[in-house]
Amino acid sequence: MSKPLRKVVFPVAGLGTRFLPATKVVAKEMLPVLDKPLIQYAVDEAVDAGADTLIFVTNRYKHAIADYFDKAYELEAKLHEKGKGELLALVQGTLPRNVRAVFVTQPEALGLGHAVLCAKPVVGDEPFGVVLPDDLIWNGAGKGALRQMAELADAQQAGVIAVEEVPRDETDKYGIVDATPVDERSARIRYMVEKPKPAAAPSNLAVVGRYVLPSRIFSLLEQTTPGAGGEIQLTDAIEALLKEHGKVLAYRFEGTRFDCGNKAGLVRATMHMAMQDPSLAPTVRDFLNAL
Ligand code: G1P
Repeated sequence: MSKPLRKVVFPVAGLGTRFLPATKVVAKEMLPVLDKPLIQYAVDEAVDAGADTLIFVTNRYKHAIADYFDKAYELEAKLHEKGKGELLALVQGTLPRNVRAVFVTQPEALGLGHAVLCAKPVVGDEPFGVVLPDDLIWNGAGKGALRQMAELADAQQAGVIAVEEVPRDETDKYGIVDATPVDERSARIRYMVEKPKPAAAPSNLAVVGRYVLPSRIFSLLEQTTPGAGGEIQLTDAIEALLKEHGKVLAYRFEGTRFDCGNKAGLVRATMHMAMQDPSLAPTVRDFLNAL
């Protein structure tokens, strides 16, 4: 029997070294694109996909993320007192009422696969999503990328991984898939490999930070040994799932992805969002022209 996607894991224990010195104290997931932190875009996408349990895999330096989704009594009381209803709604809306946030710690930075494995006791035996907040995916008023993937996973009873074509010389920054096309947007994955050199890459179809996975992946992660970069890689566990004939689809989502794990991507996302906002777009356009 199929189960809808209810649980989504957010690995947020990374150091964010590309944004030092800001990330000396600010979690990289709290860096804003306009007025919302990156983690809020990720959470909104998970909630849009139907999730009611959000699992943050965090560490001792990331308390701000828990604080951000917690109730802010003093601030809320002040805004209420002053009749600032709109602002109050923004503050209270970081986490919808029917959604709960669960925090698990990743005591050591042993890799993305290890981070996902830390969520095992909370996920249990059901399919679940993984969202990497560095990848901001915008689809305007359309369905979010994770929702598109959850629907496909349910219809096809398969794991689904978001992919996008990348320049050949960048394959060593991504998980790369070798897949047989099924239709315009989806393809059945035969093989995948983490961060191959361009010459060894089976294609230029790269994994971006969205996954819908079966709970079977946890036992495979438990057996996964360190791979690329000496880390326990989620890609390697998915490859093990493929080896045992698990069905996993690569999905070209509808939407635009911004890699906010680096400065240029964060700037692009910020400019894009500013241009979507009628109150900002003219100012930004004039400013860019002047530059
Ligand atoms: C991770 C995954 C990689 C994927 C990428 C997408 O790598 O291991 O397979 O392509 O996210 O952003 P990271 O960026 O954490 O090195």
